[in-house]
Amino acid sequence: MCGIVGYIGSKQAYQIVVKGLKRLEYRGYDSAGIALYDGNNLNITKTKGKVADLEAAVFKDDNTHGSIGIGHTRWATHGVPNDVNSHPHYSNSGDLAIIHNGIIENYEALKQELKNRGYVFKSDTDTEVLVNLIEDVQLNEKVSLSKAVQIALNQAIGAYAIAVFDVKNPSELVVARLGSPLAIGVGEGEYFVASDASPFIEYTANAVYLEDGEMATINLSKDIEILKIKDGAIVDPYIQELKINLEQIEKGGFDHFMLKEIYEQPNAINDTFRGRLLPEENIIRMEGVDSNIKKFMAAKRILIIACGTSWHAGLVAEYIFEEFARVPVEVDYASEFRYRNPIINKDDIVIAISQSGETADTMAAIKMAKDKGAFVFGVCNVVGSSISRETHAGAYTHAGPEIGVASTKAFTTQITVLALIALRLAKEKGSIDREQYHYHLYEMEQIPKKVQEALGENDNIKKVAEIYKDAEDFLYLGRGFNFPVALEGALKLKEISYIHAEGYPAAEMKHGPIALIDEKMPTVVIATKKGHYEKVLSNIQEVKSRKGKIIAIINKGDTVVRELADHVIEVPETREAFTPLLTTIPLQLLSYHIAVMLNKNVDQPRNLAKSVTVE
Ligand code: F6R
Repeated sequence: MCGIVGYIGSKQAYQIVVKGLKRLEYRGYDSAGIALYDGNNLNITKTKGKVADLEAAVFKDDNTHGSIGIGHTRWATHGVPNDVNSHPHYSNSGDLAIIHNGIIENYEALKQELKNRGYVFKSDTDTEVLVNLIEDVQLNEKVSLSKAVQIALNQAIGAYAIAVFDVKNPSELVVARLGSPLAIGVGEGEYFVASDASPFIEYTANAVYLEDGEMATINLSKDIEILKIKDGAIVDPYIQELKINLEQIEKGGFDHFMLKEIYEQPNAINDTFRGRLLPEENIIRMEGVDSNIKKFMAAKRILIIACGTSWHAGLVAEYIFEEFARVPVEVDYASEFRYRNPIINKDDIVIAISQSGETADTMAAIKMAKDKGAFVFGVCNVVGSSISRETHAGAYTHAGPEIGVASTKAFTTQITVLALIALRLAKEKGSIDREQYHYHLYEMEQIPKKVQEALGENDNIKKVAEIYKDAEDFLYLGRGFNFPVALEGALKLKEISYIHAEGYPAAEMKHGPIALIDEKMPTVVIATKKGHYEKVLSNIQEVKSRKGKIIAIINKGDTVVRELADHVIEVPETREAFTPLLTTIPLQLLSYHIAVMLNKNVDQPRNLAKSVTVE
């Protein structure tokens, strides 16, 4: 994980780098640092804590000068979060400064060799080993920084996005990537580097995304030069125009990114539909599916791989695909799939779901599936991300940047994309009748409006949050399409409020979790009319007769559950398969309000990071 930012040009680098680091804090926020070269001195300031702590430290020492600078916000892998282990790291001579996102797996062996040659190390990090290895190559082989980086990286095993400069040549910055993302912003006489484009979006709309295994030498007096790390082969830079704007990555008047992103869902889902859902013409148009329709039609099975919230979206998709397209679906945690010896047949389709498009386990699972000959289809949010490029075809969710660490709009837009694919396929296969297909398309079009209505329950949800914010455990129950929503509701609460919560299929409650129920324990039950309504009513009775408290998510106007439950939150009715898109909304808001009331850092919960680029 970790976020990296760099600047080289004629402006002062400090503001650009620090502002960029704040935008990348979603990637890690246990420590931060910056290195600036002011023409005479290399000033490195590092501190445990957030970028705001770094700013205070930099100002104290007045280390803000220089037009070349690199900065880092960390999610610790090797070495505890403290000042010394924070990046940037510098070489023994004090000439080279580096920032790194990733892990050098063979760092112990490399460190020992360097120690044998007299190098000393201050930190416990793999990164300090890498910068000294680069220096060692540079000095011994008398090569340029860029050549030294190439040689050193060929000795390193692991994953990285790095930026390194040498104070002896301060008009040059060398960057490289393997397994961790890296974007280069190309301005007028200035360049920016970062883990994603958000740090430089207000300065330039032109960006080059390095591919895995590539490095670039950015020299102010030359054109940008890209090479393959392995063999030095020259690659032509492909400069693309960015489509995101500043407003999309700022809070826009909301207290937290998470809340903003929850409220963005009606628009985000509309954006997911745009150009694809065409009820008037009775069609769904999706380039990635249309151009591979034969493969989809021939698929005997669909394997879905993902992690966390994206895995929950995969579980919802299992129900949707089986319902409409009548194709068997298996959903796997990418981290389990990659370490099993899964059976993949040539007629299987693998669908990988990832908001960030950078999750290490999902990426590794994709590579393995490809090696076994599978056709891999990606469902990603971040355009140009590693997973979107590694897959054979795919469909973007178009949810816009998701900054809050707890995933919200990514989840609902993933379900939307997957439902579109399932219906598209169902029509082609004839597994849904024409009339039903038509109704579903029209009903889907209504979803953004209905999500907006569901958001209207916010004040009611806030009151419920106030009552239960001090509970120590929560149980979430749902059946059928809404079982994965129960899992997702529990995950949202856990990750931002640190309250223990479990999601269960409602009928499983009596096989164990029922023992937890007492008068203190709130149970959140998804009890919408479509889908095993009567059975869920019985589950509610079972909780009530053990004095448990019920918070029920019901359809508007349902008086039966209203009578039974302690609290109800209403969502509009829709077709059963689309209910997760509505029932998720109150669960997101409930966890949000509880976390805010408990004074937790909603956008940056402890120990987490937005983009999990380590396994
Ligand atoms: C939870 C959350 C995580 C991610 C998971 C996968 O709110 O955000 O569980 O869903 O780390 O991330 P992506 O979707 O980027 O692969």
